[in-house]
Amino acid sequence: MFTRILGTGSYLPEQVRTNADLERMVETSNEWILERTGISERRIAAPDETAASMGAIAAKRAIEAANVDVSEIDLVICATTSSQNAFPSTACEISGMLGISDCPAFDLAAACSGFSYAYALAHSMILSGQSKKVLIVAADLMSRACDPNDRTTIVLFGDGASACILGQSDTEGTIAVHMSADAKYGPLLSLPYPKRGEKSENDWLYMKGNDVFKHAVTVLASLVSKTLEKGNIKPEQLDFLVPHQANMRIIAATARKLKLDMSQVIVTLDKQGNTSAPSVGLALDEGIRSGRIKRGDILLLESFGGGFTWGSALIRY
Ligand code: UT7
Repeated sequence: MFTRILGTGSYLPEQVRTNADLERMVETSNEWILERTGISERRIAAPDETAASMGAIAAKRAIEAANVDVSEIDLVICATTSSQNAFPSTACEISGMLGISDCPAFDLAAACSGFSYAYALAHSMILSGQSKKVLIVAADLMSRACDPNDRTTIVLFGDGASACILGQSDTEGTIAVHMSADAKYGPLLSLPYPKRGEKSENDWLYMKGNDVFKHAVTVLASLVSKTLEKGNIKPEQLDFLVPHQANMRIIAATARKLKLDMSQVIVTLDKQGNTSAPSVGLALDEGIRSGRIKRGDILLLESFGGGFTWGSALIRY
C-alpha cells in the first residue's frame, strides 16, 4: 500500500504589507530586507480572520482539487501555533466549518515544520490502516505573534494557510518521510503563550536570527541527504525542491547542496514572507497550480523551525 497527494489548496489574506510599509513602521530599508531575506511583500490577515477561517478556505480548495466528498475524509490534522483556543482545536473548528463529523481531528504544533510533520503523520496513519483519506491543513498568523516595533522579526513573517488531501494508493506517491527535533536549541526561537490576564513584552516571538540561520543551513543539508538516501533517490533524479520559505540565502544553500538549478526550486518567499507552518504547503500548491509541478515529478519537501524541529517528504507527485 502507498500514499499519494490527491489535491492541494491554499489561502492568502488580501492585505499586502510591502517593504515600503515596513520602512514606515520600523527603522529598516527595502534594500536590507531584500538583500538579507529575499522578501518583497507578505500578506496580513484581517482582524476577523483566524487560523481556522483561513485553514477552512485552503481545505475547501484542496477538497475540490482532489475531487473527494467531505464524507470520505477520515482524519483532520491541522498544523498550527496560532490556535484561537486550547480547545476546541483549530482542526475541530475547521471540521465544523466544512461539515465533517464523526471524524478524528487534532492540532499539531511543530512551528515552521508543521506541514512536513503533518504530512509524515498522515502518511503513517494511512500505511497503518487507520485512515484512508487525510485532510492536512496548516495555518498560521505569524504577523500577530511579532512585536510591530521589532525590526528583527516583523519584516520576516506573513499570514496564510495551505492544505492537502493525502490518500491511499496502489501506486507509489510518498517515497520517504523524516521528522526530527532537538530541544537544546529551543531558546533560540520561541513564542510563549500569553499569561492569562496579563500582556507583557515577553509574549512576542523571539528569534536569535543569525544563530537560527546557521543551524538551519547545517540541519537542512543533512536532512535532504538523509531523506534522499532513505528513498534511494539521487539528487539528479529530483525535479523540484519545495523548501520552507524563511530566507532566500537558506533556500539557495540547500539548492546548492543538491546541485539544483534555482529554476527547480519553488519560491514563494518574495511575495509571502515566512508563513511558518503553511509555508511548504503554500509553495507546493503554487507549484502545482502554476503548472510547473506535473504528475510523476519527484519533489523534495523540507522544513526547519522552532523547537528546533525539522521534517521532510520525498514524493512522486
Ligand atoms: O522559519 C524558522 C526558521 N527561521 C529562519 O530560518 C530565519 C533564520 N535567520 C535569518 O533569516 C536571518 O538571520 C535574518 C534575516 C533574521 C537576519 O539576517 P542576518 O544576516 O543574520 O542579520 P543579523 O541578525 O546578523 O543582523 C545584522 C545587522 C544587525 O546590526 P549590527 O548589529 O550589525 O549593527 C541588526 O541589528 O542588521 C541589523 N538588522 C536590521 N537592519 C535593518 C536586523 N534587522 C534589521 C532590519 N532592518 N529589519
